[in-house]
Amino acid sequence: LTSAPPLQLGEQYFKLHPEESDPIWGNPCEDERHKKIWSRNKSCNVLPSLPKFLVIGPQKTGTTALYTFLSMHPSVASNLPSPDTFEEIQFFNGNNYYRGLDWYMSFFPSNNATLTNNVIQSSSNPRYFFEKSATYFDGELVPKRAHQLLPSAKLVVILISPAKRAYSWYQHVRAHGDIIANNYSFYQVITASDSAPKPLRDLRNRCLNPGKYAQHLEKWLAFYANQQLHIIDGEQLKLNPAEVMNDLQRFLKITPIMDYSSHLRYDPKKGFFCQVINETRSKCLGKSKGRNYPPMDEKSMKILQRYYLSHNTALVKLLKKLGSRPIPLWLKNELSTTT
Ligand code: A3P
Repeated sequence: LTSAPPLQLGEQYFKLHPEESDPIWGNPCEDERHKKIWSRNKSCNVLPSLPKFLVIGPQKTGTTALYTFLSMHPSVASNLPSPDTFEEIQFFNGNNYYRGLDWYMSFFPSNNATLTNNVIQSSSNPRYFFEKSATYFDGELVPKRAHQLLPSAKLVVILISPAKRAYSWYQHVRAHGDIIANNYSFYQVITASDSAPKPLRDLRNRCLNPGKYAQHLEKWLAFYANQQLHIIDGEQLKLNPAEVMNDLQRFLKITPIMDYSSHLRYDPKKGFFCQVINETRSKCLGKSKGRNYPPMDEKSMKILQRYYLSHNTALVKLLKKLGSRPIPLWLKNELSTTT
Protein backbone atom coordinates (compact mmCIF):
# COMPACT_ATOMS: atom_id res chain seq x y z
CA LEU A 1 0.00 0.00 0.00
CA THR A 2 1.51 3.37 -0.99
CA SER A 3 0.34 6.89 -0.48
CA ALA A 4 1.23 10.35 -1.73
CA PRO A 5 0.90 14.01 -0.65
CA PRO A 6 -2.72 15.28 -0.78
CA LEU A 7 -2.35 17.18 -4.07
CA GLN A 8 -0.91 14.20 -5.93
CA LEU A 9 -3.44 11.92 -4.30
CA GLY A 10 -6.21 14.22 -5.55
CA GLU A 11 -4.80 14.25 -9.08
CA GLN A 12 -4.57 10.47 -9.05
CA TYR A 13 -8.14 10.19 -7.79
CA PHE A 14 -9.58 12.38 -10.55
CA LYS A 15 -7.57 10.47 -13.15
CA LEU A 16 -9.36 7.34 -11.97
CA HIS A 17 -12.76 9.07 -11.65
CA PRO A 18 -12.84 11.86 -14.27
CA GLU A 19 -16.65 11.95 -14.06
CA GLU A 20 -16.33 13.31 -10.51
CA SER A 21 -14.09 16.26 -11.37
CA ASP A 22 -17.07 18.53 -12.01
CA PRO A 23 -18.23 19.74 -8.59
CA ILE A 24 -21.81 19.40 -7.46
CA TRP A 25 -22.84 21.55 -4.51
CA GLY A 26 -25.06 20.18 -1.79
CA ASN A 27 -26.21 21.84 1.41
CA PRO A 28 -23.41 21.19 3.94
CA CYS A 29 -25.86 21.53 6.82
CA GLU A 30 -27.81 18.56 5.57
CA ASP A 31 -24.84 16.26 5.12
CA GLU A 32 -22.91 15.07 8.18
CA ARG A 33 -19.76 14.33 6.14
CA HIS A 34 -19.73 17.83 4.67
CA LYS A 35 -20.45 19.43 8.00
CA LYS A 36 -17.39 17.70 9.48
CA ILE A 37 -15.00 19.00 6.84
CA TRP A 38 -16.52 22.47 6.57
CA SER A 39 -14.39 25.47 7.43
CA ARG A 40 -14.28 26.44 11.10
CA ASN A 41 -15.64 29.89 10.14
CA LYS A 42 -18.87 28.37 8.85
CA SER A 43 -21.72 27.37 11.07
CA CYS A 44 -25.07 25.74 10.61
CA ASN A 45 -26.30 27.59 13.71
CA VAL A 46 -26.90 30.58 11.48
CA LEU A 47 -29.35 29.30 8.94
CA PRO A 48 -28.16 29.70 5.39
CA SER A 49 -30.66 31.58 3.25
CA LEU A 50 -31.57 29.51 0.28
CA PRO A 51 -34.54 29.91 -2.04
CA LYS A 52 -37.73 27.98 -1.31
CA PHE A 53 -38.76 28.08 -4.93
CA LEU A 54 -37.29 28.70 -8.35
CA VAL A 55 -38.91 30.35 -11.34
CA ILE A 56 -37.06 28.47 -14.05
CA GLY A 57 -38.41 30.02 -17.26
CA PRO A 58 -38.20 29.50 -20.16
CA GLN A 59 -37.10 32.88 -21.51
CA LYS A 60 -39.70 35.21 -23.04
CA THR A 61 -42.76 33.66 -21.45
CA GLY A 62 -43.46 36.45 -18.95
CA THR A 63 -40.86 35.59 -16.32
CA THR A 64 -40.10 39.24 -15.53
CA ALA A 65 -43.77 40.03 -14.98
CA LEU A 66 -44.06 37.05 -12.63
CA TYR A 67 -40.87 38.05 -10.83
CA THR A 68 -42.17 41.60 -10.39
CA PHE A 69 -45.58 40.48 -9.16
CA LEU A 70 -44.03 38.03 -6.69
CA SER A 71 -41.68 40.70 -5.35
CA MET A 72 -44.72 42.87 -4.49
CA HIS A 73 -45.74 40.31 -1.86
CA PRO A 74 -44.65 41.29 1.68
CA SER A 75 -43.66 37.71 2.59
CA VAL A 76 -41.75 37.01 -0.61
CA ALA A 77 -38.20 38.15 -1.32
CA SER A 78 -36.07 37.63 -4.38
CA ASN A 79 -32.31 37.53 -4.57
CA LEU A 80 -30.24 40.71 -4.53
CA PRO A 81 -29.46 41.90 -8.07
CA SER A 82 -26.37 40.58 -9.81
CA PRO A 83 -23.99 43.18 -11.29
CA ASP A 84 -23.73 41.12 -14.52
CA THR A 85 -27.15 39.64 -15.06
CA PHE A 86 -29.37 42.02 -13.02
CA GLU A 87 -32.32 40.21 -11.42
CA GLU A 88 -31.11 36.79 -12.55
CA ILE A 89 -28.30 34.98 -10.73
CA GLN A 90 -27.89 32.23 -13.34
CA PHE A 91 -26.06 30.03 -10.89
CA PHE A 92 -27.03 26.49 -11.82
CA ASN A 93 -26.15 26.94 -15.49
CA GLY A 94 -22.86 28.19 -16.90
CA ASN A 95 -19.72 29.28 -15.15
CA ASN A 96 -21.27 30.94 -12.10
CA TYR A 97 -21.74 27.47 -10.66
CA TYR A 98 -17.98 27.21 -10.17
CA ARG A 99 -18.04 30.32 -7.99
CA GLY A 100 -19.44 28.11 -5.26
CA LEU A 101 -22.09 28.05 -2.61
CA ASP A 102 -20.99 31.12 -0.66
CA TRP A 103 -21.23 33.14 -3.85
CA TYR A 104 -24.77 31.90 -4.45
CA MET A 105 -25.87 32.45 -0.88
CA SER A 106 -24.52 36.00 -0.85
CA PHE A 107 -27.45 36.94 -3.12
CA PHE A 108 -30.01 36.06 -0.48
CA PRO A 109 -30.25 38.68 2.24
CA SER A 110 -29.85 37.07 5.64
CA ASN A 111 -33.19 36.56 7.33
CA ASN A 112 -31.49 36.87 10.71
CA ALA A 113 -32.83 33.50 11.68
CA THR A 114 -30.69 31.33 13.92
CA LEU A 115 -30.94 27.74 14.98
CA THR A 116 -30.71 27.22 18.72
CA ASN A 117 -31.26 23.70 20.07
CA ASN A 118 -32.89 22.83 16.78
CA VAL A 119 -35.50 25.60 17.20
CA ILE A 120 -35.63 28.37 14.62
CA GLN A 121 -35.34 31.77 16.30
CA SER A 122 -36.39 34.36 13.79
CA SER A 123 -36.03 38.08 14.32
CA SER A 124 -37.95 39.04 11.20
CA ASN A 125 -41.04 37.93 9.30
CA PRO A 126 -40.85 34.53 7.68
CA ARG A 127 -39.83 35.12 4.09
CA TYR A 128 -40.12 33.03 1.00
CA PHE A 129 -36.92 33.52 -0.88
CA PHE A 130 -37.00 32.76 -4.54
CA GLU A 131 -34.82 33.04 -7.55
CA LYS A 132 -35.79 33.57 -11.17
CA SER A 133 -33.37 32.59 -13.90
CA ALA A 134 -35.20 32.02 -17.15
CA THR A 135 -32.39 30.01 -18.78
CA TYR A 136 -32.57 27.30 -16.12
CA PHE A 137 -35.49 25.63 -17.91
CA ASP A 138 -33.46 24.15 -20.76
CA GLY A 139 -30.03 24.03 -19.10
CA GLU A 140 -28.62 20.52 -19.49
CA LEU A 141 -27.10 20.22 -16.00
CA VAL A 142 -29.51 22.45 -14.14
CA PRO A 143 -32.11 19.95 -12.85
CA LYS A 144 -29.43 17.73 -11.27
CA ARG A 145 -27.50 20.63 -9.76
CA ALA A 146 -30.61 22.40 -8.46
CA HIS A 147 -31.92 19.19 -6.92
CA GLN A 148 -28.63 18.47 -5.15
CA LEU A 149 -28.75 21.82 -3.36
CA LEU A 150 -32.49 22.45 -3.16
CA PRO A 151 -34.21 19.06 -3.12
CA SER A 152 -37.40 20.35 -1.52
CA ALA A 153 -37.67 23.55 -3.57
CA LYS A 154 -40.76 24.11 -5.67
CA LEU A 155 -40.43 24.86 -9.35
CA VAL A 156 -42.46 27.36 -11.33
CA VAL A 157 -42.60 27.19 -15.11
CA ILE A 158 -44.45 29.48 -17.53
CA LEU A 159 -45.47 28.21 -20.94
CA ILE A 160 -46.78 30.06 -23.99
CA SER A 161 -47.00 28.92 -27.60
CA PRO A 162 -43.45 27.78 -28.44
CA ALA A 163 -43.72 29.47 -31.85
CA LYS A 164 -44.64 32.77 -30.24
CA ARG A 165 -41.86 32.32 -27.70
CA ALA A 166 -39.30 31.72 -30.45
CA TYR A 167 -40.41 34.89 -32.26
CA SER A 168 -40.34 36.98 -29.08
CA TRP A 169 -36.84 35.64 -28.36
CA TYR A 170 -35.67 36.53 -31.87
CA GLN A 171 -36.98 40.09 -31.40
CA HIS A 172 -35.26 40.21 -28.02
CA VAL A 173 -31.80 39.27 -29.32
CA ARG A 174 -32.26 41.61 -32.31
CA ALA A 175 -33.03 44.49 -29.96
CA HIS A 176 -29.90 43.58 -27.99
CA GLY A 177 -27.83 44.09 -31.15
CA ASP A 178 -27.12 40.46 -32.05
CA ILE A 179 -25.41 40.68 -35.44
CA ILE A 180 -26.79 37.43 -36.85
CA ALA A 181 -30.34 38.21 -35.76
CA ASN A 182 -30.00 41.62 -37.39
CA ASN A 183 -28.64 40.18 -40.63
CA TYR A 184 -31.13 37.35 -41.05
CA SER A 185 -34.91 37.42 -41.03
CA PHE A 186 -36.82 35.29 -38.56
CA TYR A 187 -37.75 32.97 -41.39
CA GLN A 188 -34.08 32.59 -42.38
CA VAL A 189 -33.10 31.83 -38.79
CA ILE A 190 -35.70 29.13 -38.15
CA THR A 191 -35.16 27.46 -41.53
CA ALA A 192 -31.34 27.57 -41.40
CA SER A 193 -30.04 24.16 -42.47
CA ASP A 194 -27.32 22.11 -40.80
CA SER A 195 -24.87 23.26 -43.48
CA ALA A 196 -25.48 26.95 -42.61
CA PRO A 197 -22.66 28.92 -40.94
CA LYS A 198 -22.18 27.91 -37.30
CA PRO A 199 -23.25 31.25 -35.76
CA LEU A 200 -26.54 31.03 -37.65
CA ARG A 201 -27.08 27.41 -36.62
CA ASP A 202 -26.31 28.31 -33.00
CA LEU A 203 -28.82 31.13 -33.09
CA ARG A 204 -31.43 28.83 -34.65
CA ASN A 205 -30.89 26.27 -31.89
CA ARG A 206 -31.05 28.83 -29.12
CA CYS A 207 -34.23 30.18 -30.65
CA LEU A 208 -36.00 26.85 -31.14
CA ASN A 209 -34.75 24.45 -28.48
CA PRO A 210 -36.31 25.93 -25.33
CA GLY A 211 -39.75 25.46 -26.96
CA LYS A 212 -39.45 21.67 -26.83
CA TYR A 213 -41.27 21.92 -23.53
CA ALA A 214 -42.05 18.26 -22.82
CA GLN A 215 -38.43 17.19 -23.31
CA HIS A 216 -37.17 19.75 -20.81
CA LEU A 217 -39.94 19.12 -18.30
CA GLU A 218 -39.14 15.40 -18.33
CA LYS A 219 -35.55 16.23 -17.36
CA TRP A 220 -36.77 18.22 -14.36
CA LEU A 221 -39.21 15.49 -13.42
CA ALA A 222 -36.38 12.97 -13.34
CA PHE A 223 -35.21 14.81 -10.20
CA TYR A 224 -38.25 16.58 -8.77
CA ALA A 225 -41.64 15.13 -7.87
CA ASN A 226 -44.69 16.04 -9.89
CA GLN A 227 -46.14 17.83 -6.82
CA GLN A 228 -43.17 20.19 -6.69
CA LEU A 229 -43.88 21.55 -10.16
CA HIS A 230 -46.33 24.36 -10.95
CA ILE A 231 -47.05 25.25 -14.57
CA ILE A 232 -48.45 28.68 -15.39
CA ASP A 233 -50.22 29.38 -18.65
CA GLY A 234 -48.36 32.50 -19.85
CA GLU A 235 -51.41 33.71 -21.75
CA GLN A 236 -53.40 33.68 -18.52
CA LEU A 237 -50.59 35.59 -16.82
CA LYS A 238 -51.14 38.32 -19.40
CA LEU A 239 -54.94 38.29 -19.33
CA ASN A 240 -55.73 37.51 -15.73
CA PRO A 241 -52.63 37.88 -13.56
CA ALA A 242 -54.58 38.18 -10.29
CA GLU A 243 -56.03 34.70 -10.68
CA VAL A 244 -52.66 33.26 -11.73
CA MET A 245 -51.07 34.81 -8.65
CA ASN A 246 -53.80 33.41 -6.39
CA ASP A 247 -53.24 29.89 -7.70
CA LEU A 248 -49.50 30.29 -7.35
CA GLN A 249 -49.73 31.47 -3.74
CA ARG A 250 -51.89 28.48 -2.90
CA PHE A 251 -49.41 26.14 -4.56
CA LEU A 252 -46.48 27.73 -2.72
CA LYS A 253 -48.46 27.86 0.53
CA ILE A 254 -47.56 31.51 0.95
CA THR A 255 -49.29 33.36 3.76
CA PRO A 256 -50.96 35.73 4.01
CA ILE A 257 -52.58 35.33 0.60
CA MET A 258 -52.34 38.68 -1.16
CA ASP A 259 -55.27 39.72 -3.31
CA TYR A 260 -53.56 40.92 -6.46
CA SER A 261 -56.77 42.22 -8.02
CA SER A 262 -56.34 45.45 -6.06
CA HIS A 263 -52.61 45.67 -6.79
CA LEU A 264 -52.58 45.11 -10.55
CA ARG A 265 -54.43 47.16 -13.13
CA TYR A 266 -54.65 46.86 -16.90
CA ASP A 267 -52.83 49.74 -18.56
CA PRO A 268 -54.36 50.41 -22.01
CA LYS A 269 -51.28 52.33 -23.17
CA LYS A 270 -48.92 49.48 -22.25
CA GLY A 271 -51.40 46.78 -23.25
CA PHE A 272 -50.53 44.76 -20.14
CA PHE A 273 -51.31 44.63 -16.43
CA CYS A 274 -49.12 46.90 -14.32
CA GLN A 275 -48.56 47.54 -10.64
CA VAL A 276 -51.03 49.99 -9.06
CA ILE A 277 -49.25 52.97 -7.49
CA ASN A 278 -52.31 55.10 -6.72
CA GLU A 279 -55.73 55.80 -8.22
CA THR A 280 -54.36 57.31 -11.38
CA ARG A 281 -50.80 56.00 -11.64
CA SER A 282 -49.49 52.53 -12.34
CA LYS A 283 -45.96 51.19 -12.79
CA CYS A 284 -45.44 49.00 -15.85
CA LEU A 285 -42.49 46.87 -16.88
CA GLY A 286 -39.89 48.62 -19.06
CA LYS A 287 -39.94 48.99 -22.84
CA SER A 288 -38.11 45.70 -23.36
CA LYS A 289 -41.07 43.76 -21.93
CA GLY A 290 -44.10 43.90 -24.17
CA ARG A 291 -42.11 45.09 -27.18
CA ASN A 292 -43.65 46.49 -30.32
CA TYR A 293 -42.80 44.45 -33.38
CA PRO A 294 -44.65 43.35 -36.51
CA PRO A 295 -46.63 40.11 -36.29
CA MET A 296 -44.94 36.88 -37.37
CA ASP A 297 -45.18 36.16 -41.10
CA GLU A 298 -47.57 33.39 -42.16
CA LYS A 299 -44.83 31.20 -43.65
CA SER A 300 -42.80 31.14 -40.45
CA MET A 301 -45.92 30.46 -38.42
CA LYS A 302 -46.79 27.42 -40.55
CA ILE A 303 -43.25 26.06 -40.35
CA LEU A 304 -43.17 26.41 -36.58
CA GLN A 305 -46.56 24.83 -36.13
CA ARG A 306 -45.26 21.79 -37.98
CA TYR A 307 -41.90 21.90 -36.22
CA TYR A 308 -43.47 21.93 -32.76
CA LEU A 309 -46.28 19.48 -33.52
CA SER A 310 -44.62 16.41 -31.99
CA HIS A 311 -43.36 18.46 -29.03
CA ASN A 312 -46.79 19.96 -28.36
CA THR A 313 -48.40 16.54 -28.64
CA ALA A 314 -45.86 15.21 -26.12
CA LEU A 315 -46.70 18.12 -23.83
CA VAL A 316 -50.41 17.28 -23.84
CA LYS A 317 -49.54 13.67 -23.04
CA LEU A 318 -47.26 14.73 -20.22
CA LEU A 319 -49.83 17.11 -18.72
CA LYS A 320 -52.41 14.33 -18.79
CA LYS A 321 -49.96 11.91 -17.18
CA LEU A 322 -49.19 14.42 -14.42
CA GLY A 323 -52.90 14.64 -13.65
CA SER A 324 -55.21 17.55 -12.79
CA ARG A 325 -53.29 19.87 -15.07
CA PRO A 326 -55.41 21.98 -17.39
CA ILE A 327 -54.45 21.97 -21.06
CA PRO A 328 -53.79 25.63 -21.99
CA LEU A 329 -56.02 27.07 -24.69
CA TRP A 330 -53.02 28.05 -26.85
CA LEU A 331 -51.92 24.41 -26.83
CA LYS A 332 -55.34 23.15 -27.90
CA ASN A 333 -55.44 25.80 -30.63
CA GLU A 334 -51.99 24.97 -31.96
CA LEU A 335 -52.80 21.29 -32.17
CA SER A 336 -56.15 21.86 -33.84
CA THR A 337 -54.60 24.05 -36.56
CA THR A 338 -51.88 21.51 -37.39
CA THR A 339 -53.89 18.29 -37.29
P1 A3P B 1 -42.73 40.48 -25.72
O1 A3P B 1 -41.85 41.63 -25.33
O2 A3P B 1 -42.21 39.70 -26.87
O3 A3P B 1 -44.18 40.91 -25.91
P2 A3P B 1 -39.67 37.56 -20.19
O4 A3P B 1 -39.87 38.49 -19.04
O5 A3P B 1 -39.70 36.12 -19.77
O6 A3P B 1 -38.49 37.94 -21.01
O7 A3P B 1 -40.95 37.67 -21.11
C1 A3P B 1 -41.23 38.85 -21.83
C2 A3P B 1 -42.67 38.75 -22.26
O8 A3P B 1 -43.54 38.87 -21.13
C3 A3P B 1 -43.11 39.87 -23.18
O9 A3P B 1 -42.79 39.46 -24.48
C4 A3P B 1 -44.61 39.99 -22.88
O10 A3P B 1 -45.41 39.48 -23.93
C5 A3P B 1 -44.81 39.13 -21.63
N1 A3P B 1 -45.59 39.73 -20.53
C6 A3P B 1 -46.47 39.05 -19.76
N2 A3P B 1 -47.03 39.86 -18.85
C7 A3P B 1 -46.48 41.07 -19.04
C8 A3P B 1 -46.66 42.34 -18.38
N3 A3P B 1 -47.52 42.48 -17.37
N4 A3P B 1 -45.95 43.40 -18.83
C9 A3P B 1 -45.09 43.25 -19.88
N5 A3P B 1 -44.87 42.08 -20.52
C10 A3P B 1 -45.55 41.00 -20.11
